[in-house]
Amino acid sequence: MQYRHTPVMLRETIEHLNCSKGKVIADCTLGGAGHARAIAERILPEGLLIGIDRDRDALKNAESVLFSFGSRVILVNDNFANLPAVLSGLGIDLIDGALLDLGLSYYHIDGSGRGFSFMRNEPLDMRMDTSQDLTAADIVNRESEEKLAEIFRQYGEERYAAKIARRLVAARSCGPVETSRQLASIVHEAYPAKQRHKGKTDPATRVFMALRIAVNGELENLRIFLESVVSCLAKGARLCIISFHSLEDRMVKQKMRFWEKKCVCPPDLPVCACNKQQEFKIITKKALVASPEEVKANPMARSAKLRVAEKL
Ligand SMILES: C[S@@+](CC[C@H](N)C(=O)[O-])C[C@H]1O[C@@H](n2cnc3c(N)ncnc32)[C@H](O)[C@@H]1O
Repeated sequence: MQYRHTPVMLRETIEHLNCSKGKVIADCTLGGAGHARAIAERILPEGLLIGIDRDRDALKNAESVLFSFGSRVILVNDNFANLPAVLSGLGIDLIDGALLDLGLSYYHIDGSGRGFSFMRNEPLDMRMDTSQDLTAADIVNRESEEKLAEIFRQYGEERYAAKIARRLVAARSCGPVETSRQLASIVHEAYPAKQRHKGKTDPATRVFMALRIAVNGELENLRIFLESVVSCLAKGARLCIISFHSLEDRMVKQKMRFWEKKCVCPPDLPVCACNKQQEFKIITKKALVASPEEVKANPMARSAKLRVAEKL
């Protein structure tokens, strides 16, 4: 299992989580447990770290990374969309902080063998939770041309979504599309020759990202998390969310702005009738981004956006 690399925006995240001895913090996306270890070092031994990941391999890795902290670290194999149920299962009412570091871990790309990247020729799986039935191959081989185009357009913001979907449906009539390299070459063939080598990103990158988001229901999980996390946070708790996709960042930004509002009545209403209360204070008016030094050392940090809000 290869979980290496420094976690993205580590210093900024730890500072904003206000980690101090005795706090109860949930790292809801353990991954390589780099953030989790830094949190544990600051809140233990009096505090409690709850680590969640839907990928069993991440849990196995975290067990070895966090072993020395003993019983004040609790690891749970679950979806962060179930945070309230996870906490109540542990007998915990409220937590002092929560972290989401969304998307893939390095292990998913480098060592999982699940076809997350076209740099390796692997089966088109792309599941973070391998107990789930739906795989990327299911979507690629079963969905209609229209649905495939919608996935590539919506989640990948792919300009040539329709062309790629058409090419894919034609290709699969000769037999199933089963590997990452097969899919990448279909995308390359669908791309207009002049555009194929334009820009820094390979045309297949956006299609792979879109499929991964669809397979793992990533936006839906984030939506459910944002609906339910409010009831899990104690007064003064910090919520830190690192996202890598504009759709995710928009969801986080809009939700935090909604939480901060004191009133959501239409502007022409003379008196407030909504009874909304301000639930959070936004700490990062603009999303924080990784420093140029970090991006140089780790190009994956390039698109990271960190947003922080504090429960009132
Ligand atoms: C970017 S990595 C986290 C890296 C981590 N912060 C570190 O320090 O190495 C994201 C992790 O979140 C997990 N994940 C993604 N969606 C999830 C969900 N809905 N519930 C639980 N874990 C999820 C992935 O399996 C992956 O291991």
